Amino acid sequence: MLWQTIITLAVFAGQVVARGGKPRPFSYFTNNTIYQPVGKESVTYPRYVELEDGTILATTSLTGHTPGYFPVFESKDGGASWKHVSNLTDQVNGWGMSAQPALAELKTRMGPYKAGTILGTGNSWSNNGTKIDLYASTDRARTWKFVSHIAQGGRPNTTNGATPIWEPYLLQYKGTLAAYYSDQRDPKHGQKLAHQESRDLKTWGPVINDVAYDQYIARPGMTVISYIPQSKNGSSSTSSPSAIPPPTASTTPSTTSSPTPRSPSGNPSASPSS
Ligand SMILES: *[C@@H]1O[C@H](CO)[C@@H](O)[C@H](O)[C@H]1NC(C)=O
Ligand SMILES: *[C@@H]1O[C@H](CO)[C@@H](O)[C@H](O)[C@H]1NC(C)=O
Ligand SMILES: *[C@@H]1O[C@H](CO)[C@@H](O)[C@H](O)[C@H]1NC(C)=O
Ligand SMILES: *[C@@H]1O[C@H](CO)[C@@H](O)[C@H](O)[C@H]1NC(C)=O
Ligand SMILES: *[C@@H]1O[C@H](CO)[C@@H](O)[C@H](O)[C@H]1NC(C)=O
Repeated sequence: MLWQTIITLAVFAGQVVARGGKPRPFSYFTNNTIYQPVGKESVTYPRYVELEDGTILATTSLTGHTPGYFPVFESKDGGASWKHVSNLTDQVNGWGMSAQPALAELKTRMGPYKAGTILGTGNSWSNNGTKIDLYASTDRARTWKFVSHIAQGGRPNTTNGATPIWEPYLLQYKGTLAAYYSDQRDPKHGQKLAHQESRDLKTWGPVINDVAYDQYIARPGMTVISYIPQSKNGSSSTSSPSAIPPPTASTTPSTTSSPTPRSPSGNPSASPSS
């Protein structure tokens, strides 16, 4: 999983079309550009989701705009060509979608949201706080609507003792959506990984600890999680390095958490903040 993440980053952050010409649809290629930052822009935290019909959606943190937003790109040909289809903007806080997006597709209906609904989240922050909000698109990521506030923390600050939240990631399992994130609000842990669960996308249950080390200063990083079905004979098809509890309905999760403290550019002055 870790390698996969790094390779994906390398591909996403690459520039210019692969040597030897345009990538062919549904073929192998390297270094195919999805988006080339212009002017003062820069991109971090690339995220993608492959939809049931094979469409790939990708997004990224984008600095250089106030308020910030997540540009959303679509590929219908296996990543060979990309189209900028929408911007996921903050509709409620006035803070922008500052950084750390995540995308997911509903595989089964939840509340009024049908299978095929695209979910988007991320960190909306200002000098007044950090908020992880949920948005939904019912038109294949062309337009987005605010659904719910998942969690809220103090202003961005990566020092232990400060109380922000960071880096959400979404996983639907059966009738439950889990929103994983990195959490500095617990006075017992400089930072921990936690999640909250919803069954209707509107209301969210309590904070459930996933990785919370005994040592206060340990910062377990961020959660990236995938569902890997169990093999037919019942043995698990993966190992779970840090044993992150799955959503209540049991799954076999596989996680990647970085060994060193992440520093999501936690300095509000370096980011859109008003
Ligand atoms: C990707 O393309 C850029 C620009 O041409 C080049 O600098 C970089 O070395 C390439 N990276 C890989 C991994 O091929
Ligand atoms: C996204 O926002 C940028 C900046 O406002 C704008 O130039 C661009 O046209 C928007 N793109 C889409 C697909 O909405
Ligand atoms: C960041 O948090 C630490 C710990 O609470 C605090 O001492 C420091 O003043 C904070 N920095 C900013 C810029 O708020
Ligand atoms: C069943 O489990 C064994 C032992 O873990 C494994 O070697 C084998 O490949 C599994 N078979 C299937 C069909 O998944
Ligand atoms: C931060 O909070 C203060 C006090 O409530 C308010 O005046 C200010 O507009 C807020 N700023 C932002 C960016 O939300």
